[in-house]
Amino acid sequence: MKKLRENDFSEIITHYRNIPEMHMNPFVSAQGIVKDFDLGDYLIRAIDHLDLEIAEHEYVAIIGASGAGKTSLLHILGGLDKPTDGKVYLSHIDITPMEEETLATFRIFSVGLVFQNYNLISSLTAQENIMFPMQLCGISHEECEKRASELLKQIGLEERAEHLPFQLSAGEQQRIAIARALANDPPVIIADEPTANLDKKNAEFIGTLFEQFRKEGKTIILATHDEKLFKHAHRILEMDDGKIISDKRIHEIDFVDNDKLESSSIEDSDEQSIQNEE
Ligand SMILES: Nc1ncnc2c1ncn2[C@@H]1O[C@H](COP(=O)(O)OP(=O)(O)O)[C@@H](O)[C@H]1O
Ligand SMILES: [Mg+2]
Repeated sequence: MKKLRENDFSEIITHYRNIPEMHMNPFVSAQGIVKDFDLGDYLIRAIDHLDLEIAEHEYVAIIGASGAGKTSLLHILGGLDKPTDGKVYLSHIDITPMEEETLATFRIFSVGLVFQNYNLISSLTAQENIMFPMQLCGISHEECEKRASELLKQIGLEERAEHLPFQLSAGEQQRIAIARALANDPPVIIADEPTANLDKKNAEFIGTLFEQFRKEGKTIILATHDEKLFKHAHRILEMDDGKIISDKRIHEIDFVDNDKLESSSIEDSDEQSIQNEE
């Protein structure tokens, strides 16, 4: 993908963030999603008329046997793959009609993606991998380095900044991949079985990281079989055969957005003073 010029980036953000009706849309939603894989002789229906709505700040864990459709659904919700049919909202935006290039740009700042196999760029150091999505946004080198250092600290790997992926353990690579997903501070994190290849200690650390992201108000959608991850979720969905077969709320959404509270109380008090003047 081509590097964005700063103008392209701010133009797209301004365009999408300033559509007033946008906030009437669901935050994340799949509506009537079908995903077929055409194998020539036959068709595999990975997602079968699936409807789903996820609230802002919600932490949703998706469970289900292998082949149930979890990865296909995450790829569609994260804008990595187009559905055969249906509509997808991400960060209040209908991403279904977006051209590939716009979608790729939109993904960079609206969603952090974490994969089972980390997908780090093998020729870049840990720090450079984390800087990569920020550089695509045209952020200055200095700023990228500063934020990457902060993220390395957050994941406890500041000593490993200069290491290449092959010099890191599986758990360390996944931590770098998580830091990379957070680089542009996206509101949504989508993770596909992020602890599947990790030992217990690393999986626990990653469970704690996701718990922290929930407290920070990130919207988290992850496929997992790992109790260390789904015990922190607000809601557990179970998939089978391309459908959601159960949807359980295990915790209430507890996030309080202080920024919004502050701005609404300012608006309230403004209204109050206007009324008082009348
Ligand atoms: N690229 C693909 N080509 C063909 N079939 C696929 C492809 N990706 C997934 N599938 C099929 O779609 C179904 C759902 O797969 P997937 O979404 O990977 O499930 P899960 O992540 O729950 O294991 C499976 O039958 C799988 O074989
Ligand atoms: Mg999968």
